[in-house]
Amino acid sequence: MKDKRTEADKREQDELKATCHIPGHIAIIMDGNGRWAKEKGLPRVGGHHAGVKSVRDAVEACAELGVNYLTLYAFSTENWGRPKEEVGALMSLLIHSLRKELKTLNDNNIRLHTIGNRDDLPDKVREELEQTIELTRQNTRMTLVLALSYSGRWDLTQAVKHIAEEVAEGRLSPDQIFAETISAHLSTRDIPDPDLMIRTSGEMRISNFLLWQLAYSELYITDCFWPDFRRPHLYEAIRSFSKRERRFGKVSEQLKPV
Ligand code: FPP
Repeated sequence: MKDKRTEADKREQDELKATCHIPGHIAIIMDGNGRWAKEKGLPRVGGHHAGVKSVRDAVEACAELGVNYLTLYAFSTENWGRPKEEVGALMSLLIHSLRKELKTLNDNNIRLHTIGNRDDLPDKVREELEQTIELTRQNTRMTLVLALSYSGRWDLTQAVKHIAEEVAEGRLSPDQIFAETISAHLSTRDIPDPDLMIRTSGEMRISNFLLWQLAYSELYITDCFWPDFRRPHLYEAIRSFSKRERRFGKVSEQLKPV
């Protein structure tokens, strides 16, 4: 595999790996494409097109750093309510990007996975996704999870429905329902919870993303619009994450050996 990193970037990554705790799972709300485009006098779709470069950069850099899972919020359940033209353009962009980036995924040994209601997606998008998932199935370095037609409430609702069915069929009793039971019925069942959640464009919300899974994730919000998000922004987020003390509800003294 050809290493496309610059010498300076390699040095920065080495420094990060030596001095920081690299998160096992990073989740990103890629926000600000529309505002980025507006600032430049472009149609909103121009922001989404420009955002694909940031996707590629983040995916490659995460794989190089040894991140195991990268989850990108690419299209929410609520995004179906956007103007028809924008939804159509996003779906076309997805098909085009999946075709174009298959080589990047395989060159970097990255497996594609999706979460969300695949039934909502146009046939062409679903077919392209299924093909890319199949063609990257054997890759082991990192899993790229695309959240498509996804929302945390959708995920919890489908989990509750499945649990209720199991109870109704007598396969599960209510006193056997624990937090782990819910986790095991979510679309992220085989994926550890995110350690770090990054949101671009400065909004202080989680916007119906991984509502259950973000319970103890560290949050990092940057003002940068998604199309401007590059490796240095990612490295800064990881540095910030690395300085945090994750107590998971305990007190400091319980975490540090005395
Ligand atoms: C949010 O910005 C962004 C989206 C809803 C779509 C994200 C899609 C991409 C980055 C491109 C394709 C993705 C892949 C995985 C190839 P916004 O439109 O809400 O921005 P605004 O808040 O400024 O209006």
